[in-house]
Amino acid sequence: MGKQQASCKVCVTGGAGYLGSWLVKKLLDKGYTVHATLRNLEDKSKAGLLKSLPGADTRLVLFQADIYNPHEYKHAIQGCEFVFHVATPQQTASCSHTSQEIVEAAIAGVRSIAESCIESQSVKRLIYTASVLASSPLTKDGIFNSSSCVNESNWTPTDITFNRGFEYMRAYIISKTLAEKEALRFNQNPGDGKPLEVVTLACGLVGGDTLLPYVPLSVEVMFSQLIGKRQTFEGLEFMEEVMGSVPILHIEDVCDAHIFCMEKPSMRGRFLCAAANPTIREMAMYFRQNYSQYQISKEFMGEEKKGIACDSSKLVEMGFEYKYDLNKILDDSVKCGRRLGSVFTI
Ligand SMILES: NC(=O)c1ccc[n+]([C@@H]2O[C@H](COP(=O)([O-])OP(=O)(O)OC[C@H]3O[C@@H](n4cnc5c(N)ncnc54)[C@H](OP(=O)(O)O)[C@@H]3O)[C@@H](O)[C@H]2O)c1
Repeated sequence: MGKQQASCKVCVTGGAGYLGSWLVKKLLDKGYTVHATLRNLEDKSKAGLLKSLPGADTRLVLFQADIYNPHEYKHAIQGCEFVFHVATPQQTASCSHTSQEIVEAAIAGVRSIAESCIESQSVKRLIYTASVLASSPLTKDGIFNSSSCVNESNWTPTDITFNRGFEYMRAYIISKTLAEKEALRFNQNPGDGKPLEVVTLACGLVGGDTLLPYVPLSVEVMFSQLIGKRQTFEGLEFMEEVMGSVPILHIEDVCDAHIFCMEKPSMRGRFLCAAANPTIREMAMYFRQNYSQYQISKEFMGEEKKGIACDSSKLVEMGFEYKYDLNKILDDSVKCGRRLGSVFTI
């Protein structure tokens, strides 16, 4: 571990989630000092998981903060050089907030965190974990525009109506789109003091292993065809409807991409982040060939169509290399599901 890294403090909001916990682990492994936030420090399973990571005893500090009270992040941000804003408000069974409240909280959260970064005088760069779902090539009438490729210039129209999808998915897309735009606004209007660099990483569906004691939602969505689970398969269908394919990437690559964006001497702007863009049909064909003990029924096979590619060459041109391809992402997601039991019967 380099002395330089240990003295470099970085903040991870949502440090106990799927991406957040893997990112905290990687940052500690690289020798950084990490300020991680979670909503409830009394939650023994979440706090305990983070405290058990190698290096946590001397280089991890936990803070309590909720996006609905965004000023709470100030303490965690103070003294850090880099902030990863990973946390996002979501609609869950235990959440009483309306879609509108979720969208407003996501935007206000980003704004307040960016302002705290500027006020801190210590933060150089804010890296926001965005979603490719904010870069849909659909027009507001729900039609794919003629381009056969999605890049950083695409923005999902927020007045769009979808054929499929639950209200919570719509709220998620709108909140991610508007929160990402809000984050990027700080690149144009850096405030009076030290300029803040903002990077947004618009990530595809993430699969692979986890530190959590359960299968994360995005991992289960990844292998939903194999277990024939309608509820999570709808996540894939929705993604294909919004993006024209299913942009995916591995948990190792997504966290490495975040750290890559931090370790660059200077970097700002929007970057799409996806290693592969299969259609649902192509994913089904891979599973059929490689997991022949499972029967994938017709309703989970997807349609034969030409997928729309998500062009993540802007990040690659900066020097980032993806290490995990389509096969490895799917294989490691299945392995994770099997390791954690419950969803797989064989
Ligand atoms: N997984 C994917 O496929 C994927 C793809 C693209 C982008 N992303 C983005 O990556 C980020 C992490 O997602 P994930 O898959 O790791 O999900 P996750 O495991 O469900 O984690 C969500 C995180 O958000 C935090 N959170 C939820 N509501 C909050 C609130 N009101 N205040 C503060 N924190 C709150 C949770 O904190 P607690 O642990 O304290 O409850 C948790 O750490 C999100 O921004 C998501 O949009 C994920």
